[in-house]
Amino acid sequence: MKNNDATAQTQIITASNNGADRFLDDVLTGLQSTPKRLNSKYFYDANGDKLFQELMNCEEYYPTRCELEIFSEKTADICDAIMGDGDAFDLIELGAGDATKSTYLLQYLLDQQVKFTYLPIDISENVISYLNVTLPVTLPGLQITGLNGEYFDMLEKAASISNKRKVVLFLGSNIGNMPAAEAEAFCRNLHRHLSAGDMLLIGFDLKKNPKTVLAAYNDKGGITKRFNFNLLERINRELDGDFNLNQFEHYPTYDPETGSCKSYLVSLADQQVKINGSEPIHFAKDECIFMEISQKFTVSQTDQLAKNNGFKPVNHFFDNKKWFIDVIWVAE
Ligand code: AVJ
Repeated sequence: MKNNDATAQTQIITASNNGADRFLDDVLTGLQSTPKRLNSKYFYDANGDKLFQELMNCEEYYPTRCELEIFSEKTADICDAIMGDGDAFDLIELGAGDATKSTYLLQYLLDQQVKFTYLPIDISENVISYLNVTLPVTLPGLQITGLNGEYFDMLEKAASISNKRKVVLFLGSNIGNMPAAEAEAFCRNLHRHLSAGDMLLIGFDLKKNPKTVLAAYNDKGGITKRFNFNLLERINRELDGDFNLNQFEHYPTYDPETGSCKSYLVSLADQQVKINGSEPIHFAKDECIFMEISQKFTVSQTDQLAKNNGFKPVNHFFDNKKWFIDVIWVAE
Protein backbone atom coordinates (compact mmCIF):
# COMPACT_ATOMS: atom_id res chain seq x y z
CA MET A 1 0.00 0.00 0.00
CA LYS A 2 1.27 3.46 -0.84
CA ASN A 3 0.91 6.00 1.89
CA ASN A 4 0.62 9.55 0.55
CA ASP A 5 -0.42 11.20 3.78
CA ALA A 6 2.73 12.43 5.51
CA THR A 7 0.91 12.92 8.81
CA ALA A 8 -0.69 9.48 8.96
CA GLN A 9 0.61 7.36 11.80
CA THR A 10 -0.65 4.03 10.56
CA GLN A 11 -0.20 2.08 7.38
CA ILE A 12 -0.30 -1.51 6.20
CA ILE A 13 2.21 -3.15 3.90
CA THR A 14 1.11 -6.39 2.26
CA ALA A 15 3.14 -9.15 0.62
CA SER A 16 3.12 -8.86 -3.15
CA ASN A 17 3.62 -12.58 -3.76
CA ASN A 18 0.66 -14.89 -4.03
CA GLY A 19 -0.15 -16.43 -0.66
CA ALA A 20 -2.85 -18.73 -2.07
CA ASP A 21 -0.39 -20.42 -4.45
CA ARG A 22 2.06 -21.05 -1.64
CA PHE A 23 -0.73 -22.51 0.50
CA LEU A 24 -1.76 -24.97 -2.23
CA ASP A 25 1.85 -25.93 -2.97
CA ASP A 26 2.67 -26.52 0.69
CA VAL A 27 -0.49 -28.56 1.30
CA LEU A 28 0.05 -30.82 -1.73
CA THR A 29 3.76 -31.31 -0.97
CA GLY A 30 2.98 -32.14 2.65
CA LEU A 31 0.22 -34.62 1.89
CA GLN A 32 2.21 -36.31 -0.86
CA SER A 33 5.13 -36.90 1.55
CA THR A 34 5.71 -39.87 3.82
CA PRO A 35 4.86 -39.40 6.62
CA LYS A 36 2.10 -36.95 5.72
CA ARG A 37 2.27 -33.48 7.27
CA LEU A 38 0.64 -30.08 7.16
CA ASN A 39 2.25 -26.81 8.27
CA SER A 40 0.69 -25.38 11.44
CA LYS A 41 1.31 -21.83 10.24
CA TYR A 42 -1.81 -22.36 8.11
CA PHE A 43 -3.97 -22.86 11.22
CA TYR A 44 -4.42 -19.09 11.41
CA ASP A 45 -7.23 -18.00 9.09
CA ALA A 46 -10.02 -15.85 10.61
CA ASN A 47 -11.61 -18.94 12.16
CA GLY A 48 -8.26 -20.26 13.42
CA ASP A 49 -7.44 -16.87 14.97
CA LYS A 50 -10.76 -17.08 16.85
CA LEU A 51 -10.10 -20.64 18.01
CA PHE A 52 -6.63 -19.67 19.21
CA GLN A 53 -8.18 -16.80 21.20
CA GLU A 54 -10.51 -19.36 22.81
CA LEU A 55 -7.56 -21.64 23.52
CA MET A 56 -5.65 -18.88 25.26
CA ASN A 57 -8.61 -18.42 27.60
CA CYS A 58 -9.14 -22.09 28.37
CA GLU A 59 -8.10 -23.48 31.71
CA GLU A 60 -5.52 -26.02 30.52
CA TYR A 61 -3.60 -23.75 28.14
CA TYR A 62 -1.06 -22.15 30.52
CA PRO A 63 1.66 -20.59 28.25
CA THR A 64 -0.22 -17.37 27.46
CA ARG A 65 -1.07 -16.71 31.12
CA CYS A 66 2.56 -17.34 32.17
CA GLU A 67 3.98 -15.00 29.55
CA LEU A 68 1.33 -12.39 30.28
CA GLU A 69 2.44 -12.48 33.92
CA ILE A 70 6.04 -11.80 32.82
CA PHE A 71 4.99 -8.86 30.66
CA SER A 72 2.67 -7.33 33.23
CA GLU A 73 4.99 -7.76 36.23
CA LYS A 74 8.36 -7.05 34.60
CA THR A 75 7.33 -4.32 32.14
CA ALA A 76 9.82 -1.72 33.36
CA ASP A 77 12.77 -4.14 33.49
CA ILE A 78 12.05 -5.41 29.98
CA CYS A 79 11.64 -1.89 28.57
CA ASP A 80 14.80 -0.62 30.27
CA ALA A 81 16.71 -3.46 28.66
CA ILE A 82 15.38 -2.91 25.12
CA MET A 83 15.27 0.87 24.88
CA GLY A 84 19.04 1.39 24.70
CA ASP A 85 20.39 4.95 24.81
CA GLY A 86 17.04 6.57 23.94
CA ASP A 87 17.56 6.93 20.17
CA ALA A 88 14.50 6.09 18.08
CA PHE A 89 14.22 2.39 17.28
CA ASP A 90 11.95 -0.06 15.47
CA LEU A 91 10.01 -2.54 17.60
CA ILE A 92 9.17 -5.39 15.23
CA GLU A 93 6.90 -8.21 16.35
CA LEU A 94 6.91 -11.56 14.54
CA GLY A 95 3.44 -13.16 14.74
CA ALA A 96 1.84 -10.31 16.64
CA GLY A 97 -1.59 -11.92 17.17
CA ASP A 98 -3.76 -9.65 19.31
CA ALA A 99 -0.64 -7.93 20.74
CA THR A 100 -1.98 -8.19 24.32
CA LYS A 101 1.48 -8.92 25.72
CA SER A 102 3.38 -6.35 23.69
CA THR A 103 0.77 -3.71 24.59
CA TYR A 104 2.32 -3.64 28.09
CA LEU A 105 5.62 -2.61 26.50
CA LEU A 106 4.03 -0.17 24.04
CA GLN A 107 2.10 1.60 26.83
CA TYR A 108 5.19 1.87 29.04
CA LEU A 109 7.41 3.16 26.21
CA LEU A 110 4.78 5.76 25.24
CA ASP A 111 4.47 6.85 28.90
CA GLN A 112 8.26 7.31 29.03
CA GLN A 113 8.09 9.26 25.74
CA VAL A 114 10.55 6.87 24.12
CA LYS A 115 10.75 7.32 20.33
CA PHE A 116 9.90 4.11 18.49
CA THR A 117 7.75 2.67 15.71
CA TYR A 118 5.80 -0.55 16.24
CA LEU A 119 5.88 -2.90 13.23
CA PRO A 120 3.70 -5.96 13.82
CA ILE A 121 4.23 -8.77 11.30
CA ASP A 122 1.58 -11.45 10.90
CA ILE A 123 0.62 -13.96 8.24
CA SER A 124 -3.03 -13.26 9.06
CA GLU A 125 -4.44 -10.32 7.12
CA ASN A 126 -7.24 -10.26 9.65
CA VAL A 127 -4.79 -9.74 12.54
CA ILE A 128 -2.88 -6.90 10.87
CA SER A 129 -5.90 -4.87 9.86
CA TYR A 130 -7.37 -5.32 13.35
CA LEU A 131 -4.16 -4.08 15.03
CA ASN A 132 -3.85 -1.15 12.67
CA VAL A 133 -7.36 0.02 13.53
CA THR A 134 -7.49 -0.70 17.28
CA LEU A 135 -4.00 0.04 18.62
CA PRO A 136 -3.88 3.73 17.65
CA VAL A 137 -7.18 4.12 19.56
CA THR A 138 -6.09 2.30 22.74
CA LEU A 139 -2.55 3.74 22.53
CA PRO A 140 -2.80 7.35 21.36
CA GLY A 141 0.39 8.61 19.76
CA LEU A 142 1.54 5.13 18.69
CA GLN A 143 3.41 4.99 15.38
CA ILE A 144 2.41 1.71 13.75
CA THR A 145 3.15 0.07 10.41
CA GLY A 146 1.43 -3.30 9.96
CA LEU A 147 3.23 -5.86 7.82
CA ASN A 148 1.05 -8.64 6.43
CA GLY A 149 3.05 -11.63 5.18
CA GLU A 150 5.75 -14.19 5.98
CA TYR A 151 8.31 -13.29 8.67
CA PHE A 152 11.44 -12.88 6.55
CA ASP A 153 9.72 -11.26 3.56
CA MET A 154 8.29 -8.69 5.95
CA LEU A 155 11.56 -8.24 7.90
CA GLU A 156 13.16 -7.30 4.59
CA LYS A 157 10.34 -4.82 3.94
CA ALA A 158 10.90 -3.37 7.42
CA ALA A 159 14.63 -2.97 6.73
CA SER A 160 13.89 -1.33 3.36
CA ILE A 161 11.77 1.42 4.94
CA SER A 162 13.96 2.12 8.01
CA ASN A 163 17.58 1.73 9.09
CA LYS A 164 16.98 2.30 12.79
CA ARG A 165 18.13 -0.09 15.50
CA LYS A 166 15.84 -3.10 15.63
CA VAL A 167 14.29 -4.86 18.58
CA VAL A 168 12.46 -7.98 17.42
CA LEU A 169 9.77 -9.63 19.55
CA PHE A 170 9.12 -13.32 18.99
CA LEU A 171 6.76 -14.29 21.79
CA GLY A 172 4.38 -17.08 22.74
CA SER A 173 6.95 -19.85 22.21
CA ASN A 174 6.10 -19.60 18.54
CA ILE A 175 9.62 -20.90 17.94
CA GLY A 176 8.39 -24.18 19.43
CA ASN A 177 6.37 -24.72 16.25
CA MET A 178 9.64 -25.45 14.41
CA PRO A 179 11.44 -28.80 14.58
CA ALA A 180 14.94 -28.43 16.14
CA ALA A 181 16.94 -28.08 12.91
CA GLU A 182 14.46 -25.55 11.57
CA ALA A 183 14.63 -23.52 14.80
CA GLU A 184 18.44 -23.34 14.45
CA ALA A 185 18.13 -22.27 10.80
CA PHE A 186 15.49 -19.72 11.76
CA CYS A 187 17.77 -18.10 14.38
CA ARG A 188 20.68 -18.11 11.93
CA ASN A 189 18.50 -16.44 9.31
CA LEU A 190 17.19 -13.92 11.83
CA HIS A 191 20.77 -13.05 12.78
CA ARG A 192 21.54 -12.46 9.09
CA HIS A 193 18.66 -9.96 8.92
CA LEU A 194 19.95 -8.02 11.96
CA SER A 195 22.98 -5.84 12.74
CA ALA A 196 25.33 -6.01 15.73
CA GLY A 197 23.55 -4.51 18.74
CA ASP A 198 20.04 -5.30 17.49
CA MET A 199 17.99 -7.32 19.95
CA LEU A 200 15.58 -10.21 20.06
CA LEU A 201 13.11 -10.73 22.90
CA ILE A 202 12.10 -14.34 22.54
CA GLY A 203 9.67 -16.52 24.52
CA PHE A 204 10.11 -20.23 25.23
CA ASP A 205 7.75 -22.65 26.92
CA LEU A 206 9.86 -24.63 29.40
CA LYS A 207 9.81 -28.34 30.24
CA LYS A 208 7.57 -29.12 33.18
CA ASN A 209 5.39 -31.94 34.50
CA PRO A 210 4.42 -33.89 31.36
CA LYS A 211 0.77 -34.10 32.46
CA THR A 212 0.59 -30.31 32.58
CA VAL A 213 2.02 -30.05 29.07
CA LEU A 214 -0.18 -32.74 27.53
CA ALA A 215 -3.35 -31.32 29.13
CA ALA A 216 -2.65 -27.95 27.48
CA TYR A 217 -2.79 -29.64 24.05
CA ASN A 218 -5.65 -32.00 24.93
CA ASP A 219 -8.15 -29.64 26.56
CA LYS A 220 -11.40 -31.14 27.80
CA GLY A 221 -13.46 -28.62 25.85
CA GLY A 222 -11.98 -29.90 22.58
CA ILE A 223 -10.78 -26.49 21.38
CA THR A 224 -7.33 -27.83 20.39
CA LYS A 225 -9.07 -30.53 18.39
CA ARG A 226 -11.25 -27.99 16.57
CA PHE A 227 -8.12 -25.86 16.02
CA ASN A 228 -6.51 -28.81 14.18
CA PHE A 229 -9.65 -29.73 12.23
CA ASN A 230 -10.03 -26.12 11.16
CA LEU A 231 -7.07 -26.57 8.82
CA LEU A 232 -8.88 -29.40 6.99
CA GLU A 233 -11.97 -27.17 6.73
CA ARG A 234 -9.80 -24.35 5.42
CA ILE A 235 -8.34 -26.66 2.75
CA ASN A 236 -11.85 -27.76 1.77
CA ARG A 237 -13.03 -24.17 1.48
CA GLU A 238 -10.02 -22.36 -0.01
CA LEU A 239 -8.42 -25.14 -2.04
CA ASP A 240 -11.53 -26.99 -3.13
CA GLY A 241 -10.71 -30.05 -1.01
CA ASP A 242 -13.07 -32.86 -0.04
CA PHE A 243 -11.81 -33.98 3.38
CA ASN A 244 -14.54 -35.81 5.30
CA LEU A 245 -13.94 -34.54 8.83
CA ASN A 246 -15.84 -37.45 10.37
CA GLN A 247 -13.17 -39.79 9.03
CA PHE A 248 -10.34 -38.28 11.09
CA GLU A 249 -9.49 -38.17 14.79
CA HIS A 250 -7.25 -35.81 16.79
CA TYR A 251 -4.23 -37.43 18.53
CA PRO A 252 -2.08 -35.22 20.82
CA THR A 253 1.22 -36.53 22.30
CA TYR A 254 4.03 -35.33 24.57
CA ASP A 255 7.46 -36.96 24.95
CA PRO A 256 9.08 -35.72 28.18
CA GLU A 257 12.54 -36.93 27.07
CA THR A 258 12.75 -34.78 23.97
CA GLY A 259 10.29 -32.10 25.10
CA SER A 260 8.38 -32.53 21.83
CA CYS A 261 4.64 -32.03 22.04
CA LYS A 262 3.11 -33.13 18.73
CA SER A 263 -0.40 -33.39 17.36
CA TYR A 264 -1.68 -35.61 14.59
CA LEU A 265 -4.92 -36.27 12.74
CA VAL A 266 -5.45 -40.01 12.29
CA SER A 267 -7.35 -41.40 9.32
CA LEU A 268 -10.17 -43.63 10.58
CA ALA A 269 -10.58 -45.44 7.26
CA ASP A 270 -8.95 -46.30 3.98
CA GLN A 271 -9.91 -43.21 2.00
CA GLN A 272 -9.03 -40.77 -0.77
CA VAL A 273 -9.02 -37.00 -0.70
CA LYS A 274 -8.94 -34.65 -3.68
CA ILE A 275 -7.59 -31.13 -3.46
CA ASN A 276 -7.96 -28.56 -6.23
CA GLY A 277 -8.47 -31.25 -8.87
CA SER A 278 -5.23 -33.01 -7.87
CA GLU A 279 -4.56 -36.71 -8.22
CA PRO A 280 -6.47 -38.35 -5.34
CA ILE A 281 -4.38 -38.56 -2.16
CA HIS A 282 -4.65 -41.95 -0.48
CA PHE A 283 -4.95 -42.36 3.29
CA ALA A 284 -4.58 -45.83 4.79
CA LYS A 285 -6.66 -46.61 7.87
CA ASP A 286 -4.68 -45.36 10.94
CA GLU A 287 -2.32 -43.30 8.81
CA CYS A 288 -1.43 -40.01 10.52
CA ILE A 289 -1.03 -36.44 9.35
CA PHE A 290 1.58 -34.64 11.49
CA MET A 291 -0.07 -31.29 12.19
CA GLU A 292 2.00 -29.38 14.73
CA ILE A 293 5.01 -29.49 17.03
CA SER A 294 5.10 -27.33 20.17
CA GLN A 295 8.62 -27.90 21.49
CA LYS A 296 9.37 -27.45 25.22
CA PHE A 297 12.87 -26.32 26.28
CA THR A 298 15.33 -26.21 29.18
CA VAL A 299 16.87 -22.82 29.92
CA SER A 300 20.29 -24.06 28.87
CA GLN A 301 18.89 -25.27 25.54
CA THR A 302 17.62 -21.74 24.86
CA ASP A 303 21.02 -20.22 25.77
CA GLN A 304 22.71 -22.73 23.48
CA LEU A 305 20.35 -21.85 20.63
CA ALA A 306 21.36 -18.19 21.02
CA LYS A 307 25.10 -18.89 21.09
CA ASN A 308 24.95 -21.30 18.14
CA ASN A 309 23.56 -18.54 15.96
CA GLY A 310 25.47 -15.36 16.79
CA PHE A 311 23.43 -14.06 19.72
CA LYS A 312 24.32 -13.45 23.36
CA PRO A 313 21.54 -14.13 25.90
CA VAL A 314 21.69 -11.17 28.29
CA ASN A 315 18.48 -11.14 30.32
CA HIS A 316 16.20 -13.94 31.53
CA PHE A 317 12.66 -13.18 32.70
CA PHE A 318 10.60 -15.96 34.32
CA ASP A 319 7.02 -16.25 35.55
CA ASN A 320 6.59 -17.22 39.22
CA LYS A 321 6.19 -20.93 38.47
CA LYS A 322 9.18 -20.91 36.08
CA TRP A 323 7.04 -22.54 33.43
CA PHE A 324 7.92 -20.00 30.75
CA ILE A 325 10.85 -17.73 29.92
CA ASP A 326 11.35 -14.57 27.89
CA VAL A 327 15.01 -13.97 27.05
CA ILE A 328 16.73 -10.93 25.57
CA TRP A 329 19.35 -11.86 23.01
CA VAL A 330 21.78 -9.30 21.59
CA ALA A 331 23.10 -9.83 18.05
CA GLU A 332 26.91 -9.95 18.00
C1 AVJ B 1 0.86 -20.13 19.27
C2 AVJ B 1 2.36 -21.72 18.47
C3 AVJ B 1 2.60 -20.98 20.66
O1 AVJ B 1 2.18 -24.24 20.02
O2 AVJ B 1 1.45 -23.67 21.98
C4 AVJ B 1 -1.87 -23.92 20.94
C5 AVJ B 1 -0.29 -22.89 19.18
N1 AVJ B 1 -1.33 -25.14 19.27
N2 AVJ B 1 -2.48 -25.12 21.06
C6 AVJ B 1 1.49 -23.53 20.76
C7 AVJ B 1 -1.14 -23.96 19.79
C8 AVJ B 1 -2.17 -25.86 20.05
C9 AVJ B 1 0.71 -22.37 20.16
N3 AVJ B 1 1.62 -21.31 19.62
